[in-house]
Amino acid sequence: MSTYTVEDPRKVTTRRLQEMKDKGEKIAMLTAYDYSMAKLIDEAGMDVILVGDSASNVMAGNMTTLPITLDQMIYHAKSVIKGVKRALVVCDMPFGTYQGNSKEALASAIRIMKESHAEAVKMEGGAEIIESIERILCAGIPVMGHLGLTPQSINKFGTYNVRAKEEAEANKLIEDAKLLEQTGCFAIVLEKIPAELATRVSRSLTIPTIGIGAGNGCDGQVLVMHDMLGINKGFSPRFLRRYADLGTIIEDAVGNYIKDVKSTDFPNASEQY
Ligand code: KIV
Repeated sequence: MSTYTVEDPRKVTTRRLQEMKDKGEKIAMLTAYDYSMAKLIDEAGMDVILVGDSASNVMAGNMTTLPITLDQMIYHAKSVIKGVKRALVVCDMPFGTYQGNSKEALASAIRIMKESHAEAVKMEGGAEIIESIERILCAGIPVMGHLGLTPQSINKFGTYNVRAKEEAEANKLIEDAKLLEQTGCFAIVLEKIPAELATRVSRSLTIPTIGIGAGNGCDGQVLVMHDMLGINKGFSPRFLRRYADLGTIIEDAVGNYIKDVKSTDFPNASEQY
């Protein structure tokens, strides 16, 4: 049973997110990659579930988000969708499926929507990918933007440190955010940027911003599920709040199971036919 009670049980849409921003109601977003976790997260009352390309790290064990493929993202999104009744499901477009040209970007987005039944896509970047965003929006596919620390560009950045601390980068981010809004994105993720800048951007836009490591001036927050549940134990940046220590709970439970099997305690008389 969730500790949170959903006030509005209607299916969350991009329009509803806009109403939430207009009313000053914060948006809760979390990642999920499979049916069972998505079902639990949706039943707990989450507004938006992101099938993040962080699946590359937390599901596939890669060092970066770059290796995950379109087929793999579609597989994850398809599984998530089956577990979700209320939350809006957004699927990340993986690296290499939209940066080349806008036709290719549209084809990738259409595959995501058609094959997984996700309800929107998320894309990293500003002015440099605007043609792709326009084309995808023209096809009636809602697009969530993503600025600041954009992990698909890790090889350009060379580090996962806070972005846009310098004036030039902050100004570019402000311009990109405006451009994404004007082009028709329904929301923008702001990752790992100074809280003051995120607040300024959030106040200047009419569409909602969803922050991760961007302070509480954003219109919503997103975390990676494995990080906030303590499954990804080695990752503890300052912005992360851990809501559970599932890593330890799982290790203890599995250890107890092994002990019981080895000692022949499991299965007992009532656990067999
Ligand atoms: O892939 C992901 O999980 C993300 C979030 C960190 C916003 O893009």
